[in-house]
Order: sequence, then structure tokens, then C-alpha cells
Amino acid sequence: MYLDQLLKKLADKNVITCILPPGEQEKKLKTAHKIIDRLLENGFGRDATLISLGGGVVCDITGFVASVFMRGVSFIQIPTTLLAQVDASVGGKTGVNHKLGKNLIGTFYQPSAVICDTAFLSSLPPEEMSGGLAEIIKYGLIYDRDFFVWLQPNVSNILKQDMSSLGHAVQRSCQIKAEIVAQDETEQSIRAILNFGHTFGHAIENQTGYGQWGHGQAVAAGMVLAARLSAKMSLISEEDLEMIKSILSKAGLPVEPPKINVNDFIDNMKADKKVKKRKIQLVLLNKIGEAFLTSEYSEEDLIKVLGAS
Ligand SMILES: NC(=O)c1ccc[n+]([C@@H]2O[C@H](COP(=O)([O-])OP(=O)(O)OC[C@H]3O[C@@H](n4cnc5c(N)ncnc54)[C@H](O)[C@@H]3O)[C@@H](O)[C@H]2O)c1
Repeated sequence: MYLDQLLKKLADKNVITCILPPGEQEKKLKTAHKIIDRLLENGFGRDATLISLGGGVVCDITGFVASVFMRGVSFIQIPTTLLAQVDASVGGKTGVNHKLGKNLIGTFYQPSAVICDTAFLSSLPPEEMSGGLAEIIKYGLIYDRDFFVWLQPNVSNILKQDMSSLGHAVQRSCQIKAEIVAQDETEQSIRAILNFGHTFGHAIENQTGYGQWGHGQAVAAGMVLAARLSAKMSLISEEDLEMIKSILSKAGLPVEPPKINVNDFIDNMKADKKVKKRKIQLVLLNKIGEAFLTSEYSEEDLIKVLGAS
């Protein structure tokens, strides 16, 4: 959609393009292989620069290819969805999916630049705006209570693409993610809090078949489950839980997961990358604005939380 404009800017460079059909199902090794074939067939080598122009799928796969092609070439992210602007393009996680789970194949590899222009978002359907908002709300929940409080009355302005609110939300989200990643690039400790809602969310995406539930929508339902477990453990109050559900609903996001058999849900969560000593590690909330990674929860509570939904 925005490719011609970009190609005009790069008219004096040797550029080839690779257009992927939309959808999560394209985020696979086979597609990465096809891109590498195109690069090799066209004589590109170590001095190539890859540019992603698209949503998170394109960001992740471009970063992955950049990290393995010729043992690593430079790449630039130009994210065009809200989710990709506030999350997928920042932080250097790249990857493709495996049939057993999301992002099971990937690398940590930083882009040379990330170019976020909120003007791209004008053509985005409302459900994609909502999906991005799930990650924006996540930043408030895990790291910055003031940002969460600011978001409460501003969610509808962001959905309507009021440029001032949207600009602030994108900027603050990128800042928070960059601050967290700078402390722990390869996710040995604090970076794990960015996965709040994601272990549940990835299981939802996998169980329903990739693409049926948007990533942000699955993460939103996942955040409610994580918050519910936090409330069950008396870490946050029932009022906090209601506040979280309310802001997600205002953002047009689901607050309940789809019907999934509890055992299948748990098996699927175990296939995610966050299992230590056979126990799923989860990100829970200590309070709004502070999250932590733990395996100190009772399986019984987890089953109750999954079963209640
Ligand atoms: N690497 C990371 O740290 C990280 C973080 C979060 C999410 N992700 C990944 O990001 C992916 C989800 O990203 P997404 O939500 O952007 O989905 P997506 O890339 O599938 O894009 C969603 C849809 O929007 C379309 N689109 C893109 N830009 C558009 C525009 N400006 N106007 C109209 N339509 C447009 C796409 O063609 C696609 O159909 C998942 O694979 C997820 O795992 C990665």
C-alpha cells in the first residue's frame, strides 16, 4: 500500500521487493527461505540492507532473515500497524512460528533504525487499532501506573486516531519497551515482564488456529487471565481487575478467552518458551504498574482461572 512511496525514495538504490500475502500463517521458515532465495538469486551479499514495511509479521520475518542471511546484515523497520509500531519493531526479537507454537524459531537481532510514522495508521481497520492498544495498555499495567491512568480517558481518542493522543501513546510505549530491553536485551530477567498476558495469549492463538484471533486480541484475553490469577492470589484487588477489564473493553478488546479445554490450554502453554523445571513461568501483577515473573502460584488456582472462563 505504501510501497510505491518508499520505492520512489530509494530510486537511486539497487532494490528488489518481496511481497508477502497478509496473515500470521506466512510467518514460517518456508517464507524466510523464499526471501533468502530471492536475495541470493539477485546477487545480494553482506552489504545488503533489508527493510520491513508492514505489520508485526513482516517485522519479525524481515528481522529473522536479516539475522541469518550471510550471518547477519543490517535492517530497518518501518512498522505500519499500531501493534508493530509500539511492540514488534522495537527490542530486537525476530522469529517465525513452528506448528507446535508461536515464535519458537528466532533470534535476538537489533535493527539499525525503526521509523514510526502514525500517518500509516489512517488505513488500519479498527480491530487492528484495538490490537495495538492491547500492547499499549500492557505497558501501563506492567511498568507505569501514571501512563495507565492517562490511558483510561484517552483510549477512545487513540481509537479515533486523534494525532496528539496517538502520538503520545506510541512514543511512551516505545520508551517503556526500550527502557526495559536496555536493561536485559536477551530476556534473562526483567524483559520477561513484557510477556504479560502472552503465554495465555499464544495458547489462545495456537488453539484457535493462527489468524482466527488477532495477536492483540489474544493478548488482551490473556492479560485478563493473568490479572485474574493475580487477584486470586490477592496481589491485586477485584476493583483493579474490573478496571483492567473495563479499559480493555473500551479499547474494543475481548476480556474472555474462547472456549478451550483446560488441559489443552495448559499443554499449549507448556509448549511456549517460558517453562522452567516443567512449571510454566507466568508474569503476574503486584499492582497496576508493576509486574513480575514467577512460578510460585498454585496449579489449582491456574486451573480454576482457566476453567472459569
Ligand atoms: N518481535 C516482537 O517483539 C513482537 C512483539 C509483538 C508482536 N510480534 C508479532 O507481530 C505479529 C502481529 O503483528 P500485527 O498485529 O501488526 O499483524 P500483521 O503483521 O499480520 O498485520 C495485520 C494486518 O494489517 C495489514 N496492514 C499492515 N499495515 C497496514 C496499514 N497501514 N493499513 C492497513 N492494513 C495494514 C497487514 O497486511 C495484515 O493483514 C505477530 O506475529 C506477533 O508475534 C512480535
